[in-house]
Amino acid sequence: MINATFQVDFVHRLRFTRNALDPENPTWREVLAPTGAGPARVLAFVDAGLAAAWPGIDQQIAGYAAAHPQSLELAGATVSVPGGEAVKNDRRHVDEILDQIHRAGLCRQSYVAVFGGGAVLDAVGYAAAIAHRGVRLVRFPTTTLAQDDSGLGVKNGINAFGKKNYLGVFSPPWAVVNDIDFLATLSERDFRSGLVEAVKVALVKDAAFFRRIAKSTEALARRDMDVVSNVIRESAVLHLRHITEGGDPFELTTARPLDFGHWAAHRLEEMTDFELRHGEAVAIGIALDTAYARHIGMISEEDAESILVCLEDLGFELHHPALEDGRSVLAGVDEFREHLGGLLTIMMPAGIGVGRDVHEIDAEAMMSAMATLARRRAGQERLAS
Ligand SMILES: NC(=O)c1ccc[n+]([C@@H]2O[C@H](COP(=O)([O-])OP(=O)(O)OC[C@H]3O[C@@H](n4cnc5c(N)ncnc54)[C@H](O)[C@@H]3O)[C@@H](O)[C@H]2O)c1
Ligand SMILES: [Zn+2]
Repeated sequence: MINATFQVDFVHRLRFTRNALDPENPTWREVLAPTGAGPARVLAFVDAGLAAAWPGIDQQIAGYAAAHPQSLELAGATVSVPGGEAVKNDRRHVDEILDQIHRAGLCRQSYVAVFGGGAVLDAVGYAAAIAHRGVRLVRFPTTTLAQDDSGLGVKNGINAFGKKNYLGVFSPPWAVVNDIDFLATLSERDFRSGLVEAVKVALVKDAAFFRRIAKSTEALARRDMDVVSNVIRESAVLHLRHITEGGDPFELTTARPLDFGHWAAHRLEEMTDFELRHGEAVAIGIALDTAYARHIGMISEEDAESILVCLEDLGFELHHPALEDGRSVLAGVDEFREHLGGLLTIMMPAGIGVGRDVHEIDAEAMMSAMATLARRRAGQERLAS
């Protein structure tokens, strides 16, 4: 019998910059590895929602490549990809992306560059990871959520059989280039949505960071970009460290701290036919688990209140009519269990910056937590009991 263990080193390249497509900006060129055989071949994919807000982006990408002919050459015209959850809800989009990668003749030392929100990054990343069993991926995240969370992740995938992220792969990106200038054109809704992932990671990893966010909600809500940029950077680094230093980048164990608030969030996204944005659903998921933790006496009233107030001050609704169908929401626990396998493990807030894994959910207490959120919405009930 042979049980041989082996290790593989990955390098996670994260860059923060502004105006990434200015030909004077070396960031993109510098993250590409010298091929020894001429410039790197790159095929660029652009989120259609981003392209609508940045009409010149195809020309900018072409202009950047033209200014750095020794470093990169475009393997084809920039490809537009539908933006938002739609791209993850229909498998034909992945086929189309694969078709473009195939036609461009990309090899495993070529690069797919993707500009867009978390959904487009997930779908294009999935296609890049399965073409030739892995073409290098450079992500240019263009939403708050993609810059402070998903762009750093090693997960790529799409929805199938009505289930979130059912098809996908773990595959670290070659590089991530966070250019905060892209955020200028985001809608209020999408801008706010992504900030919740910073709250999430702070709540399970870094109490001081949570306090800083809670103190800055007004500046964040009015899009003060100095404050936004600090919060995104800090959240991105915490997410990155979890992957590179947390000991379980490919989620082989059941602990999943970065999925705090997500069992209900994914279920609410499905129940609302993805009308709720991922971040909006996560805000409700965090509020629900906080109310639950309060119900079972795991968290103090003061801490629970400060979590809910922070989310409310950022402008999140902490209730949704879908919560009235509590049993259906609770089916999310089983989906979570099936998706992760093994012992059910859900992280609950035990205090600010303190997460605690639980291995079962008391359905009645969870239903009461949903009722609490409904009453709170109606009359601002505090979380006393
Ligand atoms: N892979 C992971 O680890 C991971 C982690 C968290 C979330 N996610 C996934 O990320 C997705 C959510 O991502 P999101 O919040 O970025 O939303 P999104 O990708 O749905 O984008 C929201 C909207 O913004 C548009 N858009 C993108 N950039 C823009 C810009 N700069 N200006 C104007 N419009 C722009 C898009 O076209 C879309 O209509 C979900 O599918 C979620 O499951 C993945
Ligand atoms: Zn998330």
